[in-house]
Amino acid sequence: MQRKRPFPWLRIAVHILGWLPLVIIFYLYTRNALTINPIQDIEQRLGRIAIYWLVGALAVTPLHILTGWRDLPLRRRATGLYAFMYTCLHILVFMGLDYGFVFSQIFSLILGKVYLWVGALAFLLLLPLAATSFDYFIRKMGRDWKRLHWLVYPAALVAVLHYALAQKGDIFTLRGHIVAPFLWLLLTILLLVMRIPPLRRWIIRTRRQTVERIRRFSASRKAGGDGERAIPTKITK
Ligand code: HEM
Repeated sequence: MQRKRPFPWLRIAVHILGWLPLVIIFYLYTRNALTINPIQDIEQRLGRIAIYWLVGALAVTPLHILTGWRDLPLRRRATGLYAFMYTCLHILVFMGLDYGFVFSQIFSLILGKVYLWVGALAFLLLLPLAATSFDYFIRKMGRDWKRLHWLVYPAALVAVLHYALAQKGDIFTLRGHIVAPFLWLLLTILLLVMRIPPLRRWIIRTRRQTVERIRRFSASRKAGGDGERAIPTKITK
């Protein structure tokens, strides 16, 4: 008998979350509920949403390590592509709505501001990842695909740096609107650290031991025994 597939609610949730910000921005725009400078507001919102998705894409593997939830890695590609989609929209609003696609003006502006160089670098790092995200490239590139996709780490760090530099404030003294990007930077670093092999192995071991303890404890309670005593002091497996 064929096994029934579980309802793909995680997949549906990711896609709802993927499009929801656009719906909200559109709604706010139609209700005149954006700031006095709506184009700048939309540009900034799209940039922040791109960061959330990018850090979300980085969080997939650490969350999988922490929880062992097998469906999570299956949603990594969608997460990364939403990050790229919002990045493109952010840049399009900047180039199109802000500067009417006058490229001479856009390039001289980008050259003149460090935070824009940094943003452009983040975009260039994300570009090959999005371009090779199709099954065809995954099959064709084999191990090189995995190697290339390590670019997501510098891309995320550079994107968060662009976020921090775009704010009015001082990144070194943490004055101004710098706290949010600083927290995103810390989270990004934490997510990267969690992938270091010995730490990753330790987390997986600890998770398995905890699950095993809970399983034995509830099994012994069901059997009517003393749950506390049934927990072994050391799990050898
Ligand atoms: C060619 C590439 C890029 C250009 C030209 C660009 C342009 C800009 C501009 C002009 C701003 C300032 C908006 C304002 O305050 O008026 C900005 C801010 C921002 N950008 Fe970019 N950006 C680029 C790449 C990226 C990338 C790759 C990301 C993230 C994945 C990103 C995320 C952000 C964020 C989070 C902000 C700050 C939003 C806020 O103030 O809350 N940008 N960008």
